Amino acid sequence: MSESLRDRLRALPAFPDDLPEFDPSRAPERADQLFLEWLEEALAAGVAQPHAFTLSTAGPTGHVTARTLILKDLVDGQWVFAGARSTRKGIDLAANPSAALTFYWPEVGRQVRVTGEVEELSSEVAAADWAARPAVTEPHNPDWAAWALTPTEVEFWQARHDRRHVRHWYRAGS
Ligand SMILES: Cc1cc2nc3c(=O)[nH]c(=O)nc-3n(C[C@H](O)[C@H](O)[C@H](O)COP(=O)(O)O)c2cc1C
Repeated sequence: MSESLRDRLRALPAFPDDLPEFDPSRAPERADQLFLEWLEEALAAGVAQPHAFTLSTAGPTGHVTARTLILKDLVDGQWVFAGARSTRKGIDLAANPSAALTFYWPEVGRQVRVTGEVEELSSEVAAADWAARPAVTEPHNPDWAAWALTPTEVEFWQARHDRRHVRHWYRAGS
């Protein structure tokens, strides 16, 4: 890396000037409740696409890949997303259903990581999602799948200017 690039990267701010306070002792009982609170706060703070997240998967050989997806729903404690079954993520999830969803909301210095097991939802749910996509041309796409992740762990991370960043975990069964 060139020195000037290193200097320019170092000079970029990691977080905005104003950061919200997060007190884990006042967090709600369930991870999905806190996620929805933070999602509303991200929207209110002007985060452009708070429903966009990084989906990380690992195939049978252990090679990890990641890509951006859109959250479609959060229902009964499950994070729902959709995509084509024939893609790398679809092939990975069929072989190894463990995955991680990472949300990053820069305007509030927050990150949420949802880790767990993924199941494919019914073809009716996938078809409804396909039909609801903007500017959809084909009425039906048999390759389109909807998946739901049930978390084993959800980590909420709040940046602080003193670098004593706050991490708060929810773990299944604890
Ligand atoms: C903002 C944004 C939103 C996206 N949303 C989705 C989505 O909801 N579903 C999807 O399959 N791909 C979505 N994509 C495309 C994926 O990032 C990815 O390129 C594609 O799904 C193929 O991934 P794969 O080959 O790793 O499986 C989105 C990309 C961006 C940048």
